Amino acid sequence: MNFHSFDQQQAADVEQLFGQVFSDSEGEAEGQLLATLVNELITTTKAADLKGFVASDDQLLIAAIFFTPLKFQQPIQAFLLSPVAVKTSHQGQGIGQQLIKFGIEQLKQQGAELLITYGDPNFYGKTGFQSLPESVIQAPLALSYPHGWLGQSLLSDTIPTISDKPSCVQALNNPIYW
Ligand SMILES: CC(C)(COP(=O)(O)OP(=O)(O)OC[C@H]1O[C@@H](n2cnc3c(N)ncnc32)[C@H](O)[C@@H]1OP(=O)(O)O)[C@@H](O)C(=O)NCCC(=O)NCCS
Repeated sequence: MNFHSFDQQQAADVEQLFGQVFSDSEGEAEGQLLATLVNELITTTKAADLKGFVASDDQLLIAAIFFTPLKFQQPIQAFLLSPVAVKTSHQGQGIGQQLIKFGIEQLKQQGAELLITYGDPNFYGKTGFQSLPESVIQAPLALSYPHGWLGQSLLSDTIPTISDKPSCVQALNNPIYW
């Protein structure tokens, strides 16, 4: 398995991957929603802000992940991990965790200080994410599943409390995803 940065030439394949994976796991409507989200992330996010990574095997796209900035008034380099998908036929083999760790390492090298995600604590806990109360860091939009708000500091063991509400990129700024 090879891990690389996302390249714009992979846009159609990555969009198709998210559509298929989420359609397989959560139904066609969710697949369509995720394909749309990924299309919007790729087309509306400034290239410098879009941190995408892919896993491939013999040129075949197997998994993809995106991180985008979460902006606070204070100059902290924070990124939101969303979404991630591993080809249905390749799930449960550790690829998801390897890709997340690869992405985290790349972001760390680029100066990221704080990573946040929104999802299953059992899965993301395997790659260093811990429960993040909104009294420590607020979500940009109202959370339907506050238990899934997770974070990790790349600088220390604890996550700093930040009082202002952050903003996410345009593509994720839609209550349907939260
Ligand atoms: C969730 C996902 C990215 C995990 O990638 P993966 O390569 O299958 O997972 P890994 O093999 O690295 O890790 C497996 C572990 O994660 C857990 N896991 C796997 N799929 C999971 C899922 N859909 N939800 C929650 N936990 C999951 C398993 O419990 C497993 O733990 P174990 O090794 O202790 O049994 C992948 O299964 C996927 O794309 N699923 C469908 C889309 C999705 O739900 N994406 C995440 C939300 S944005």
